Amino acid sequence: MTTLRLSDDARGIEQAAEILKQGGIVAIPTETVYGLAASAFDNAAIEKIFAAKGRPQDNPLIVHIADLDGIEKIVSDFPKSAKLLAERFWPGPLTMVLPKTDAVASSVSAGLSTVAVRMPSDPVARQIIRAAGLPLAAPSANLSGSPSPTSAAHVLSDLDGRIDAVVLSRDAVVGVESTVVSLTGAHPRLLRPGGITVSQLRELLPDLEIDEAVLSRLKEGQTAASPGMKYKHYAPKTKVVLVEAEKDAFCDFVNRQPDCGAICFEEDLPKLNCQALCYGAFQDQKRQANRVFALLRKVDALGVNTVFVHAPGKDGIGLAVYNRLIRAAGFQVIRL
Ligand code: TXA
Ligand code: MG
Repeated sequence: MTTLRLSDDARGIEQAAEILKQGGIVAIPTETVYGLAASAFDNAAIEKIFAAKGRPQDNPLIVHIADLDGIEKIVSDFPKSAKLLAERFWPGPLTMVLPKTDAVASSVSAGLSTVAVRMPSDPVARQIIRAAGLPLAAPSANLSGSPSPTSAAHVLSDLDGRIDAVVLSRDAVVGVESTVVSLTGAHPRLLRPGGITVSQLRELLPDLEIDEAVLSRLKEGQTAASPGMKYKHYAPKTKVVLVEAEKDAFCDFVNRQPDCGAICFEEDLPKLNCQALCYGAFQDQKRQANRVFALLRKVDALGVNTVFVHAPGKDGIGLAVYNRLIRAAGFQVIRL
C-alpha cells in the first residue's frame, strides 16, 4: 500500500479524520511519541494496527480522547482518584487504566476487562480526535521491538507502505511515552514511568505503588500487570549495555573496552576515546528524555560491537529514561 503523507494543517487533519472514520490506520503526532491510530470501536481497524506493527496480540493499546465528554462510553467507572488526576494532568502524558465498557473493541484491551485511556496535549492530536469524532486507540507508531518514534521520519522508516497515512508534524516534545497508572486495584499502581513523575503523582496519590516490572525483569511464570513491559523493547541490533557509574569511572571503563561506542552525557564527551552520541547534560533530564529514542535509532550506524550507555539518575523523568534504556539493554547493567 502507498502511505499518504498528510500535512498538519486543517486539510491534512480533515483527511486523517476521514481515513480513520472509514476504518483506516493513521500515524499521528502526540507530545510523547508518534502514535498509530484507529477507531477504538472498530475491531477490524485495530487488527490492522497489530498487523502493521507486528505487535504481540496480548499487548493492549491506549485509547486517546480529546475531551472528558463521552468518557462513560469507554470506561465503566471513573473514580474520584481518576477525576483528581484528570483535573491536574490532562491533557498531558498520563494514561489511566480503568474498567472498560463493552463498546471498546475487545482487541484494544487484548481481552482484559480494563482499558488504558489518555488525553494528549498535542494540538494536532486533539484536532484529529475531534474531527474523527471517535476515541482513537493508538500504540507508538514503530515496528514492535524497535525504539519509539519521536519524529515523522522515524515513523516512515519503520512503517512506510504498511499504514494508510502519516501526519507530518513537529517532533515529540516529551520524547518518552506516557506514564501509565492502574486505578483498578486496592492501591493505585505505576505500571510504566513517563512524562508525569512519581513525585507529581504522589501529591495526589500518596499510596501509589511502583510495579516491580518498572525497574526489573519479570521472573519466569510471573504475569505482567502491563503486558507491554515484559517484551524486549526499544532495542537496536547492536548489543547495548547500561553502565551505572560516576563520570570519570564511566569514561575510564569505556576507554578500556575494544570495538565499542557510547551514549553519554555532555560532560563525558571530552574524556571518551570512542564514537559517542550525547543525550544531554548530566542534570538536563528533560533533554535526555527528548533524545533517548532518536539516539537508540543511531546506534547501529556506529558499526561497533557494543554500545555502553551512561545510566541516567532514577529521579524525576530520569526514571522513565532508565526504564526504556534497561529494556534496550535487555536488562544488562554494569554497576561500577
Ligand atoms: O505516550 C504514549 O502512551 C504513546 C502515545 C502514542 O500516546 N502510546 C504508547 O502506546 O506508548 P504503547 O502501545 O506503545 O504502550 C502502551 C502501554 C503498554 O505497555 C501496554 O501494555 C499498556 O500501555 N497497557 C495498555 N492497556 C493496558 C491495560 N488495560 N492494562 C495494563 N496495561 C495496559
Ligand atoms: Mg510502544
